[in-house]
Amino acid sequence: MKVPFLDLKSLHARIQEELDHAIREVTGHTAFIGGPALARFERDLAEFMETAHAKGVSSCTAGLAMALRSLGLAPDDEVITTVHTAIPTAESIRLAGAKLVFADIDEATYQIDPEQVASLVTRKTRAILPVHLYGLAAPIDSILEIAERHGLTVIEDVAQAQGARFQGRRLGTFGKAGCLSFFPSKNLGGFGDGGAVVTDDDELHRFVSMYSNHGRLEKFTHEFEGANERLDGLQAAVLGVKLRYLDEWNERRRQVAGWYEEELGSIEELGLPRPIEGSEPVWHLYVVRAPDRDSLQRYLQERHIGCGLHYPISLNLQPAYAHLGQGEGSFKVAEKVASEVLSLPMDPFLTREQVGAVGDVLRDYFRIEHGAR
Ligand SMILES: Cc1ncc(COP(=O)(O)O)c(C=O)c1O
Repeated sequence: MKVPFLDLKSLHARIQEELDHAIREVTGHTAFIGGPALARFERDLAEFMETAHAKGVSSCTAGLAMALRSLGLAPDDEVITTVHTAIPTAESIRLAGAKLVFADIDEATYQIDPEQVASLVTRKTRAILPVHLYGLAAPIDSILEIAERHGLTVIEDVAQAQGARFQGRRLGTFGKAGCLSFFPSKNLGGFGDGGAVVTDDDELHRFVSMYSNHGRLEKFTHEFEGANERLDGLQAAVLGVKLRYLDEWNERRRQVAGWYEEELGSIEELGLPRPIEGSEPVWHLYVVRAPDRDSLQRYLQERHIGCGLHYPISLNLQPAYAHLGQGEGSFKVAEKVASEVLSLPMDPFLTREQVGAVGDVLRDYFRIEHGAR
């Protein structure tokens, strides 16, 4: 049985009429920049996230950089983030003009390790940038405690965790701002690039609204030089339709994750993801760990089971960060995890049978092909 990694085509086909209608409305008004679809989406997203404000921006990378830039960081100001994430998280710190400081992760959860973070705080630290990786919560309560103790700002990277909760509250609402990505494959994905910054802070919202639109709130007055980092009207229209289904689709993802637990729980060689207590994950990815990951990946691919790597190289070992001088062995946990992670198919509409098929192939791999281990 073929099991796709993510089947966006089928997902969109389920709501095709609504999407077509929303797109036609924008093209009918020719409201491609700003316009009613964007205003409506921003209002609906703020309501969904339970925040005072939501500002659509061109990407999560841009959103993170803007949220950090709003803090007025100096070149030697430091921002701490996890070394096990997608590169945009780290890029945003340099884009905001500050110094990037990597922290290692917790082996059980794959998330940033608060003890590491605490040990990295210096007189120059201004902010912490936790990532709710894979749609699971980072230990946001410990991070907030550290931030409070040292007077630091927390900006959350919620690119992969739209709709997830911790202790009943949406992730992205614990820090001063939360930044979402609408990259097409995300739980809430557009038909292209997009992102949003959610916040209860009026000033931060005002800054992002202005910066993303050439430093202006009014047409002819530019209070400072900003950039063109707006969310398109067409993207907002598509996202507005999909937002209505996000909680339902996330619930389905939780069901799929439950099926994986049932299927894979007894495979000793496989490490399963462990959400932190008190969290309600949204399973953007279902990431397992295996010591001989590359051979397992090949085995799955040969049997038409879609899989991915998030992420195979710890950021400290990327050529882009060679200048930091943190070579092999600098982040022992993250480097080990990067060599072992494998993302299994995750789609809200995977069936019990498809998850069972993935389980069968994995069991075959460990029992028949590698029976002695
Ligand atoms: C954890 C994380 N942060 C940030 C981003 C950046 O998002 P975007 O592609 O919208 O800039 C991504 C998306 O790849 C991500 O996965």
